[in-house]
Amino acid sequence: MTETLLVTGASGQLGRGVINHLLDTHKVPPAKIIATTRNPENGADLAARGVVVRAADFNEAASLETAFKGADKVLIISTGDLDLKSGKRLKQHKNAVAAAKNAGISHLLYTSMPNPEPVSPVLFAGDHYGTEQAIKASGIPYTIFRNGWYQENLFMALPHAIASGHWYTSAGEGRIAHGARDDMAAAIAAGLVGASNESKTYTLTGPHAYTTAEIAALVSEVTGKPLNVVQVPDEALTEGVKAAGVPEDFADVVVSFDANTRAGRIAMVTDAIETLSGRTPKTLKQFLEANKTALAG
Ligand SMILES: NC(=O)c1ccc[n+]([C@@H]2O[C@H](COP(=O)([O-])OP(=O)(O)OC[C@H]3O[C@@H](n4cnc5c(N)ncnc54)[C@H](OP(=O)(O)O)[C@@H]3O)[C@@H](O)[C@H]2O)c1
Repeated sequence: MTETLLVTGASGQLGRGVINHLLDTHKVPPAKIIATTRNPENGADLAARGVVVRAADFNEAASLETAFKGADKVLIISTGDLDLKSGKRLKQHKNAVAAAKNAGISHLLYTSMPNPEPVSPVLFAGDHYGTEQAIKASGIPYTIFRNGWYQENLFMALPHAIASGHWYTSAGEGRIAHGARDDMAAAIAAGLVGASNESKTYTLTGPHAYTTAEIAALVSEVTGKPLNVVQVPDEALTEGVKAAGVPEDFADVVVSFDANTRAGRIAMVTDAIETLSGRTPKTLKQFLEANKTALAG
């Protein structure tokens, strides 16, 4: 009998991608997929395909018991709740881990980040590290996907940088192997279907790691627009990001990404996407070419 697979955060982009791969690539019977979300109306199309759509909000621990009932394997998609002062996200994830434990599931999967240990400069890394620890303490066999940065994140910085011709950064010579979000979804779906009693941790990345200067050169090549990288100290970058209208808390997070890159903590390249999904991961150049108009305006 096929196991019942539960995916949280079903109306988010990654959660939706994983469910699409379960249905379309792995041909999991829709009735064997439980998609949970805070807003079940967003899953109406999935319900129409026969997927079981249930309400679940990690802020409401009591609601999770019903939501997780009958699931064999549970994929917890990390939430987008980055309220650093309250520590809310770690509490949300711990509620989900506890609910998975109470539901007696056989395998627990989670989307983390690379190198989340307490020394990480990334301001929210503790949420991921704390969740990984809670999962390990639960005793449930687990798969942790440490997702590298999405290629799609470049939409945050590039349109403004391309328009002005200047890309301000404090990342120095640090490298990032951005990966396509849908490639990560494909790998996670394969990992969910194939998960066994064994516990594993995968780091998912794109196929090549570039410095900011190398990314800028690729952007110029693809768009035909000059892009000059300007290295500044973290403090100056924070002021610049705030001046561009980004709220202070998030500006600090953005700059912590650059500090993390500069420290070489996101420079790794792995073949986990290809190994898990069997597909060749999208290159950065392919991403830039596909999104050239949207990026360059
Ligand atoms: N690796 C990277 O570059 C990168 C970049 C951005 C984000 N992330 C992380 O990866 C996650 C998935 O990425 P994405 O692109 O799919 O982000 P997204 O589209 O912004 O989705 C946010 C997700 O958070 C879920 N969520 C928010 N509050 C929740 C709550 N109280 N209880 C349960 N779920 C909650 C949402 O689920 P519903 O709306 O369905 O309830 C949704 O799945 C993000 O949430 C974030 O933790 C990683």
